Amino acid sequence: MHVRPAAAAAAAFLGLALTLLGGTASQAAAGPGTGPGPAALGGPVVYAHRGASAYAPENTLEAVDLAMRLGFEWVENDVQRTRDGELVVIHDDTLARTTDVEELFPDRRPWRVKDFTAAEIARLDAGGWFGEEYAGAGVPTLRQYLDRVRRNQQRLLLEIKKPELYPGIEEQTLRVLDEAGWLDRRRVSGRLVVQSFSADSVRTVHALRPDLVTAFLGTPKVADLAAYAEFTDRINPWHTTISAEWVAAVHGLLGAHGRPMEVDTWIVDDAATARKVQEMGVDGIITNAPDVVREAVGGF
Ligand code: G3P
Ligand code: CA
Repeated sequence: MHVRPAAAAAAAFLGLALTLLGGTASQAAAGPGTGPGPAALGGPVVYAHRGASAYAPENTLEAVDLAMRLGFEWVENDVQRTRDGELVVIHDDTLARTTDVEELFPDRRPWRVKDFTAAEIARLDAGGWFGEEYAGAGVPTLRQYLDRVRRNQQRLLLEIKKPELYPGIEEQTLRVLDEAGWLDRRRVSGRLVVQSFSADSVRTVHALRPDLVTAFLGTPKVADLAAYAEFTDRINPWHTTISAEWVAAVHGLLGAHGRPMEVDTWIVDDAATARKVQEMGVDGIITNAPDVVREAVGGF
């Protein structure tokens, strides 16, 4: 959807009216079947990147809960696989930066996620590195994460991370989503988006579940966009790589579900950049600091 000045003014007015009426500050949905959300009204949808990860340890249940308490429905995560085949939520393909793995398993360098069992990963502290108050937070399994997001009535932008390391992860991710009740009609149509930096992975997800909204992470050349529109609905680029013209070119194409393609850009954590990408017409902003972005762009 395009951001238009008149629509932005209408959204700002509506946001003010809701505030005056005591309305909530939660994010509305964007995407097929969800009806007009803030993007339709002019404000980009705000996604809490790895949860509210500026304020809580990334990709933990605590970061999801904090996003909810701040009033954000959409959370983003990263999915990888353990040695014994469990899907877990973590960004890096090693455990070193965000857990105490080096202390617990000093001889297991380079501490790759795929070299540890789920039971070993369950012993790790994924919160203490961020702050003492978060000590003891774990690396969630995907199933634990899905259950928490669902319990919180939040929505999920799920990233399949480094799929080249994990053959078959697309099918397995869909299976876990299905088992956790995330692939029923209501959720597929408005509460779930699956994205990846791998076009092959996005294409695979689309082939397996054509009803699911997907996004490709990257900034394809304008001339190549039509090829992506064959199998995905959104193009999600790094904010430094885009222009208003590029965003308009994406919007000018119909995606895999026959609707104009959308653009959700990342990672925008300051007000000036948030306003800049809003002016470019993006549909969504993926951010570690969702409160800062909401304040800047008037999303609600
Ligand atoms: O959602 C977009 C963003 O997560 C992509 O980058 O490295 O944080 O997974 P990264
Ligand atoms: Ca990610």
